Amino acid sequence: MTTKLDVVIMAAGKGTRMKSSLPKVLHTLAGQALVRHVVDTAHQLEARHTIVITGHGADQVETALKAAYADSGLQFARQMPQLGTGHAVQQAVPMLPDDGVVVVLSGDVPLTQADTLRALVQACGGDKLALLTIEFDDPTGYGRVVRNPSGQVHAIVEHKDANEAQRAIREVYSGIMAVPAKRLKAWLARLDNHNAQQEYYLTDVVKFAEAEGVGVVAYKIDDAAQVAGVNSPAQLAELERAYQQRRAQALMQDGVRIMDPARFDVRGQLLCGQDVQIDVNCIFEGRVQLGQGVKIGANCVLANCTIAAGAVIHPFTHIDGEKLGVTVGEGALIGPFARLRPGAQLGAEVHIGNFVEVKNSTMAKGAKANHLAYLGDATVGERVNYGAGSITANYDGANKHRTVIEADVHIGSNCVLVAPAPMLTGATSELLVPMKASSPITVRCLLAPS
Ligand code: UD1
Ligand code: CA
Repeated sequence: MTTKLDVVIMAAGKGTRMKSSLPKVLHTLAGQALVRHVVDTAHQLEARHTIVITGHGADQVETALKAAYADSGLQFARQMPQLGTGHAVQQAVPMLPDDGVVVVLSGDVPLTQADTLRALVQACGGDKLALLTIEFDDPTGYGRVVRNPSGQVHAIVEHKDANEAQRAIREVYSGIMAVPAKRLKAWLARLDNHNAQQEYYLTDVVKFAEAEGVGVVAYKIDDAAQVAGVNSPAQLAELERAYQQRRAQALMQDGVRIMDPARFDVRGQLLCGQDVQIDVNCIFEGRVQLGQGVKIGANCVLANCTIAAGAVIHPFTHIDGEKLGVTVGEGALIGPFARLRPGAQLGAEVHIGNFVEVKNSTMAKGAKANHLAYLGDATVGERVNYGAGSITANYDGANKHRTVIEADVHIGSNCVLVAPAPMLTGATSELLVPMKASSPITVRCLLAPS
């Protein structure tokens, strides 16, 4: 029999120490809202129901999650006001079927791995209360796992309620548990707030379990990053580094040469072929694919793009394909200081030099724009040489127009190609080479309509 899982994600708390107007769980780690990391983990567990408890900034949190998970069946329950973690989970009770195991997660603990939760569910075994715990050298602030002399878990005592002996305990509750739904519901109904913080503590269910003779198991892990919560900008930065180090390690294990894993950031999906080299301070966002032997120079930002085998992206290049994507062909040389925008499709051996911007344009094999130029909404043929300072004037104030430059055309320096210009072919190209004018030249004026 496979266990039916339901996940409750607590995300109603305030996050005062972030000192931000943005709800805490919407702050990003690796470019993605904290709570989305948690929802993704829940989805990996193939939970039947995933219920997010919202409160502070509820509208904003729910809007963000609905946009990100349109058809996933994600559910929401509001907790107003916020009276503690037990009270938070109470809000989900009407949505939780009796026949499942409930996994309780926190929206501000982003790096828990699905395998860890599977092991926790296994420890629960469908009838016990399973707590994810960890030992900290400094357990200050956490709920302590109190065991009786035989080693059985007896209670979780919050730091503020703990006596000196209890505060000396280094094993703490992570905030994550797996518990049979039916039992959880009965226990939640009995919680009170007679404690130092006058809150309804979820952790009090341990006492009820013990009193009823229900087994309480602590599943202890030693990987702190998996249970680390985000309470402050400093903790968020620390977790971001932990996450990026892991990504870098995994890529290096696959053979990617990362010059310095401490200066490397992936905010999305990065797929690498063999013998890829990445210099320091590069950022990869969205979906980025690097073919065999691609070299990325220092200080590049690459988002939503595909770079084919053997291409070299020189330092300080910015590529962002957004929705349309950017493709760079085999053996192309891009940068330094180049900018490729959505819809740039560059063929093999294309050269794009410094301070050249390309948007929504195709450049066929061997085309070159090596210095200070703009190509927008252009179709550029093979081996075209596009001179320094030349631009396509693609926008007339109302509409965008295409510019077509056929194979082997040489566009001189400082040309303004006012679109829609007549198609520039090899035959007309002589007019443009060389351009010695000191002021920009409007090609439409120069060329007879074809
Ligand atoms: C909780 C645990 C503590 C554990 C620690 C681990 C309780 C009583 N204590 O303490 O044993 O060591 O986590 O990090 O559970 N939340 C709500 N509504 C509320 C209160 C909190 O949704 O009314 C959410 C918060 O947004 C957060 C999570 O629950 O995502 C945990 O709340 P937090 O206040 O951080 O709990 P701790 O006091 O740290
Ligand atoms: Ca906390």
